Amino acid sequence: MKKITLTVNGKKISVQAHPFARLLDVIREGLELTGTKEGCGEGECGACSVLLDGELVNSCLVPVLQANGKAILTVEGLSKKSLCPLQKSFMKCGGAQCGICTPGMLIASQALKKKKKRLSPKDIREGLAGNLCRCTGYSQIIESIQKSGGRT
Ligand code: FES
Ligand code: FES
Repeated sequence: MKKITLTVNGKKISVQAHPFARLLDVIREGLELTGTKEGCGEGECGACSVLLDGELVNSCLVPVLQANGKAILTVEGLSKKSLCPLQKSFMKCGGAQCGICTPGMLIASQALKKKKKRLSPKDIREGLAGNLCRCTGYSQIIESIQKSGGRT
């Protein structure tokens, strides 16, 4: 076991974890932040997406040691006192249905919006290529992102 220090959603914390424990497990089980979901566990679905020092990663593929000393944003960090504009727009436009993909979609959308102010449907499809959804057919997700306003 090793002491790992992380800044999670703006709060500095330390945990004891095996260096090769999956970041996903440390987030969900160690920190009890269960908003981040596990889908495939193999880097294919994006359900476990978080931002690691601002970069979109699949937390099921990241050994926690790789995150030591870095900042992590999970879906819980998107809302402050109320839902963020992206979350509100997902609710309004039907971008969230069963909800399994939604935390990862929101995090990937957040990363996308930080990179570019005006997003075309093509930008969004490309930016969310690593995030799979079985429910929405993606059009409501694209609409949710486009209608969520400027940069978050
Ligand atoms: S659970 Fe990590 S990519 Fe599917
Ligand atoms: S809302 Fe069900 S998988 Fe996307």
